[in-house]
Amino acid sequence: MEKLRSSFTGKLGFVLAAAGSAVGLGNIWRFPYLAAQYGGGMFLLVYIILAVTFGFALMIAEIAIGRKTGLSAIGAYKKLDKRFSFLGYIAALVPIIILPYYSVIGGWVTKYLFVYLTGNSSAAVSDNYFTGFIGSVSEPIIWFLAFVGLTFLIVLFGVEKGIEKVSKIIMPVLVVLSVAIAIYGLTIPGAFEGFLYYITPNIEHFSAKTVVAAMGQLFYSMSLAMGIMITYGSYMKKDVNVESSVHQIEIFDTGIAFFAGLMIIPAVFAFSGGDQAALNAGPGLMFVTLPKVFASMPAGNIIGGLFFLLVLFAALTSSISLAETVISIFRDKLGWNRIFTCIVVLIGCIVLGLPSSLGNGIWSNIKIIGMDFLTFFDFISNNVIMPIVALLTSILVGYIIKPKVIIEEIESSSKFKGKKLFSVVIKYIAPVCLFIILITSVLSAFGLMKI
Ligand code: TRP
Repeated sequence: MEKLRSSFTGKLGFVLAAAGSAVGLGNIWRFPYLAAQYGGGMFLLVYIILAVTFGFALMIAEIAIGRKTGLSAIGAYKKLDKRFSFLGYIAALVPIIILPYYSVIGGWVTKYLFVYLTGNSSAAVSDNYFTGFIGSVSEPIIWFLAFVGLTFLIVLFGVEKGIEKVSKIIMPVLVVLSVAIAIYGLTIPGAFEGFLYYITPNIEHFSAKTVVAAMGQLFYSMSLAMGIMITYGSYMKKDVNVESSVHQIEIFDTGIAFFAGLMIIPAVFAFSGGDQAALNAGPGLMFVTLPKVFASMPAGNIIGGLFFLLVLFAALTSSISLAETVISIFRDKLGWNRIFTCIVVLIGCIVLGLPSSLGNGIWSNIKIIGMDFLTFFDFISNNVIMPIVALLTSILVGYIIKPKVIIEEIESSSKFKGKKLFSVVIKYIAPVCLFIILITSVLSAFGLMKI
């Protein structure tokens, strides 16, 4: 990462790099199954409201903290206030927890790409194909190792720049393809009902769960509340307009998530004959639904293969960024050399990822607070640690260093149109709401509260 500092050439470079980290499996795999499960249009509405308030304020704060201090999370929090040093360490836990299970899902994507490339996609259409695959022992582990291997090969050989170049072409293609698949999906008989479910907010679908899930998803998808945007901010030039960069990243990230949902949710309705249970499929939703869409369309094999290839790229740019983050955390703190750190992180990632893979099969009877390993890692990072980091960040910015410091940093390069909104959210709305959300999600996980 060191050599990257100050290497973003202007605003476009910054926005593309940050978007490359933000856009990934969070948008394409995670957003649609949460939206399906937690109220369709209601989830979408809550998500968008949170994005333009919390997401906006937190991303501004993190980038400004990074640019002001010129440091990554651990050093940056310490520099702002000694008492908040611990916050950098908590934030650093997030990528360490996410990378292993992210790679398990990345392995699933790689497997589906392989299935399409080898012309076996018709098998993937059957309902039990996916559960059979993730429930087996060695297959998902092999694909997980393949994905991890790919990520670390790229990091070890330092060819991230090449990948980033390719991803600049790949990302727009992914957008176009997703829109096309979504439009096609809407023409499948029965899909329209799902389309309505996805875009109409229905108050009956609102619950505390909707807000808790949407908030966790917002952090995850925009790579917030884990110190990442602080690091990106530290590489940002002083003359780049932070506010409009943040708007662009948010629009891009939310747009891709929206189209992924549009690709998947109407199709769920079309193929399940309106059976609501299909909406609760969880992490498998994309893998169960999309093969059916591809099978029903002309040249579906080729389009399916292309789609999984593009998703693999989006996943890789994120996993590379995650791996780089974890590696730099260890290097900064322990002073290890790069190769040695890579190897240690690689081994750690494999060891932590294995339970997440086995938890869908032979280890499915092992539960932590009622969750399998993958669900637990996902929960503890998105619904516990990230809200804590976001809460403490808003207290630090709102009451210790004061919003003025962030506003001055933003205004040193451009006008800050949303500064009123920023101050109100960071001082009053964020601390109160995040506290409530955190308590709700923890109590409900321990079965002490029903939401
Ligand atoms: N935002 C990424 C996605 O949507 C996932 C992610 C979370 C991430 N934290 C990150 C990526 C840190 C890079 C760095 O898939």
